[in-house]
Amino acid sequence: MKVLVTGAAGFIGSHLSESIQLRGDQVCCLDSLDPFYPRELKEKNLQEVLRHGAAEFIEADICDAERLTEIFLRSRPDAVVHLAARPGVRASIQSPSLYCAVNIGGTINVLEAARMAQVHKVVFASSSSVYGASNRVPFREDDPLPRPESPYAGTKAAAEDMCHLFHSLHGLQVQCVRLFTVYGPRQRPDLAVSTFTSSIAAGRPVPLYGDGSAARDYTHVSDTVRGILAALDHASPWDVFNIGSGRTIATIDLIRSIEEAMGRRAVIEHLPPQPGDVPLTFADPDKSQAVLGYEARVPFEQGIREFVDWFRSTDAQCFG
Ligand SMILES: NC(=O)c1ccc[n+]([C@@H]2O[C@H](COP(=O)([O-])OP(=O)(O)OC[C@H]3O[C@@H](n4cnc5c(N)ncnc54)[C@H](O)[C@@H]3O)[C@@H](O)[C@H]2O)c1
Repeated sequence: MKVLVTGAAGFIGSHLSESIQLRGDQVCCLDSLDPFYPRELKEKNLQEVLRHGAAEFIEADICDAERLTEIFLRSRPDAVVHLAARPGVRASIQSPSLYCAVNIGGTINVLEAARMAQVHKVVFASSSSVYGASNRVPFREDDPLPRPESPYAGTKAAAEDMCHLFHSLHGLQVQCVRLFTVYGPRQRPDLAVSTFTSSIAAGRPVPLYGDGSAARDYTHVSDTVRGILAALDHASPWDVFNIGSGRTIATIDLIRSIEEAMGRRAVIEHLPPQPGDVPLTFADPDKSQAVLGYEARVPFEQGIREFVDWFRSTDAQCFG
């Protein structure tokens, strides 16, 4: 099978592109090496992907519909995993139009190119942020979705709607995977596990927004990748799955775990809560377990130790 992965040079995309090759499939990696964080980190990720020998890399922008269709028609993938996006809740508040253009417009271009190239299956990386500040916990796939708390969340909800439209209008097979906060080696430098670790390593204060009680369903990237692959292999014309761990960690406990793994205390800088942030994300994993046979395996403390080991082996300059 040949799988085209958009956003393949990124954090999750690079791990996924390695796993696709390790299970014996071919991967066509597409990425614009967007400047949201240093290109150097994405090039390093790509080196890891390309060393397995069953991948090609195409630098392209999903906002360029014509070029994207040409690539899909030439490459003729059996399946597409669409991860390319402008990520980040807080940054989306500064640049809402850009987030709409990439995350909604770009997704429509990917779906349209998939339709033209008669791709059998598309997996779309949605986000737990579509559940907003819902107090129905844990979040279930059939919960009614509340209004979004940020432009980023709004773009993911709209992109899910576009996926459903391409399924209902054109018969495209689409699985939407709602990913819950992913962490692990190569994590994006803007995410909490990365920023806390780099601050503690550099002896800088750790910015803690709110009182530390906000909690996230942290999911190790190897578990996320297994969930995406299970959705890719799942034969269904349309479905939505939570890919989370089904367990929450408060931000203050995350800081304590990183301190423990680093053997170093954090100096905490207390800051007001940030607009767009939600108090809790919490996946109900029952459906993905029952239908996909998916279960998160990596214990949180072990995953954090592994992240800290990876962080120490990298050039911390890239993390600011
Ligand atoms: N990391 C998480 O915790 C998390 C949680 C929920 C959902 N997601 C979603 O998973 C996907 C991957 O996230 P990630 O954390 O690996 O982010 P990432 O930024 O590391 O990866 C995204 C990749 O997309 C590429 N990209 C951006 N704009 C592009 C464009 N216009 N054309 C082509 N490529 C483009 C970037 O260069 C980057 O390599 C995203 O869709 C994100 O919204 C991530």
